[in-house]
Amino acid sequence: MSFAVDLLAGQSALVTGGTSGIGAAIAAALAGCGAEVVVTGRQAGSVADYNAAPPARCRAEPLDVTDGGAVVRLLASFTRLHIVVNSAGLIHREAEYDPARFAEVLDVNLTGSLRVAEAAHPLLARQGGAIVNIASMLSFVGGPHAPGYAAAKGGVVQLTKSLAIRYAAQGIRVNAIAPGWIETRFTLAVRNDAARREAIRARTPMGRWGRPEDVAGAAVFLCSPAAAFVTGATLPVDGGYLAA
Ligand code: NAI
Repeated sequence: MSFAVDLLAGQSALVTGGTSGIGAAIAAALAGCGAEVVVTGRQAGSVADYNAAPPARCRAEPLDVTDGGAVVRLLASFTRLHIVVNSAGLIHREAEYDPARFAEVLDVNLTGSLRVAEAAHPLLARQGGAIVNIASMLSFVGGPHAPGYAAAKGGVVQLTKSLAIRYAAQGIRVNAIAPGWIETRFTLAVRNDAARREAIRARTPMGRWGRPEDVAGAAVFLCSPAAAFVTGATLPVDGGYLAA
């Protein structure tokens, strides 16, 4: 990546689910461009681990995005905010035909993104800003192993459009990234199945799985002035998976 190191200097960012995986890579990239970044982790242990050796200009706070009160309290601790990345995500493969599990997955991936956006909205509205939601390939195709996750991620694309329209007058842009298959713990079970791992690699025109850093560059772009007229969009970062 080769963005100017001061591209986001003076900006304050929040990345949910940012103690690991894609969120952590996005947080590091935003901080690498000068932003001050708060990442959130659901477990106290992940927050402590992150804070033991954080990237420059990054620190972690605990947050469960299904806890509306906790979301409001965390946002109340900010005095200024320019960037929000909703990367918290949950999947229960093979278990989401149970309505309770289905609802839980929607609550984290979809309603959680709404909760954070709405709580952040007054701060973002003060000077304008950018929200990036994390969608999925399962925003576009069905997920027989994860019907709740696919419904939630499909919903994330629509929520992104609705919020983009709703917040546009305040200079807040709302976009989503739809990552392809990325090497994080989220996909560990799939990658541990050699046949599935290879099938996904072969199905991806660029011939490899993605890395969290592949997603981070797109997030920096969407948060930057270079994307000043981009809102309501969902950008696939998938090595061509959707095109093939
Ligand atoms: P990850 O497991 O490292 O990150 C997910 C994060 O969400 C974790 O830090 C987890 O603690 C957090 N989380 C889960 N439930 C939460 C809750 N109730 N409140 C707050 N945080 C919660 O995995 P990864 O891959 O970095 O996932 C990040 C996002 O990217 C997720 O939204 C996921 O759905 C999405 N995604 C991942 C893909 C992949 O191939 N890895 C592909 C497409 C989308």
